[in-house]
Amino acid sequence: MKDRIQQLLSEINAFKAQNKEELEQFRIKFLGKKGVMGDLFNEFKNVPSELRKDVGVLLNDLKNKAQEAINNHKEAFETDNSSTQAIGDITLPVDLGQVGSRHPIAIVRNEIIDIFSRLGFTVAEGPEIEDDWHNFTALNFPLEHPARDMQDTFFIEKDPDIALRTHTSSVQVRMMENNKPPIRSIFPGRVYRNEAISARAHCFFHQVEGLYIDKNVSFADLKQTLLYFAKEMFSADTQIRLRPSYFPFTEPSAEMDISCNLCGGKGCSFCKHSGWVEILGCGMVDPAVLENCGIDPTVYSGFAFGMGIERITNLRFQVKDLRMFSENDQRFLSQFKSAL
Ligand code: PHE
Repeated sequence: MKDRIQQLLSEINAFKAQNKEELEQFRIKFLGKKGVMGDLFNEFKNVPSELRKDVGVLLNDLKNKAQEAINNHKEAFETDNSSTQAIGDITLPVDLGQVGSRHPIAIVRNEIIDIFSRLGFTVAEGPEIEDDWHNFTALNFPLEHPARDMQDTFFIEKDPDIALRTHTSSVQVRMMENNKPPIRSIFPGRVYRNEAISARAHCFFHQVEGLYIDKNVSFADLKQTLLYFAKEMFSADTQIRLRPSYFPFTEPSAEMDISCNLCGGKGCSFCKHSGWVEILGCGMVDPAVLENCGIDPTVYSGFAFGMGIERITNLRFQVKDLRMFSENDQRFLSQFKSAL
């Protein structure tokens, strides 16, 4: 075995690769999985114990020499390349290829998150495939109640308990079930409804939900929070108005309009000449909902709101046809590059 090692050692010492391929062949021969070194180490198991120490030293030495030879060549090839290959005109502009742009819905979602984070709201998410409890029952939509008709969705025939969520309010329930107040979070995400697809409706869209639960949270807190949001999102002179409304899970409930940011409230075709556009639903969390989620309504109160991101995006960028958001047409998407 010693002779064999000697012979391989001379081979390594004499080795001179002309190119990277030869170097790679050498590496495979010596250090590859089925290479010479592997064979030798296997044979080493049969070496009588009195010779083991000597042979072991020789073997390790051989392995190191092979590795060294490879390293030296590598370095030589690398320095050679940079000194001999033409690198071209380094003053030419670099072609970065095609750089994509953020989707308008993502741009607006990120802005909404930014605004609420400045007020101390954290971000959380919930599953799009929901169960009846989180999407409906815990939120005061009893089984068979007509309020469910407004939010028809997609169910699995085999198990009607599983459905695609119709709103991000389901995440409110999950948040309250799993956290103790104070809770101050927003929940962005995709929601689904069984609607005929048109320029103004789609079977899926995006919402951002907000939830604030603590001691002594009042309707005034809700109003001030939403006013701040509207001014940050649109412009400092934006006004809001709250109209009484109904949601099963908030009491009292309201719908919020902002002064139309396209005509400044004077009246235009976008706001149907009313000067106002509706942007979200909101209200004080119904005590029954707090109780369903394990929060004591005699100690805590809170508000919630939910808005459609498509709607806000529409106000920001005047996208008239909802379908464009999901068609992935480059001519549409590339127009938002500068809005990043
Ligand atoms: N979930 C309601 C909807 O989708 C919006 C909403 C959220 C209303 C929170 C009140 C409070 O229509």
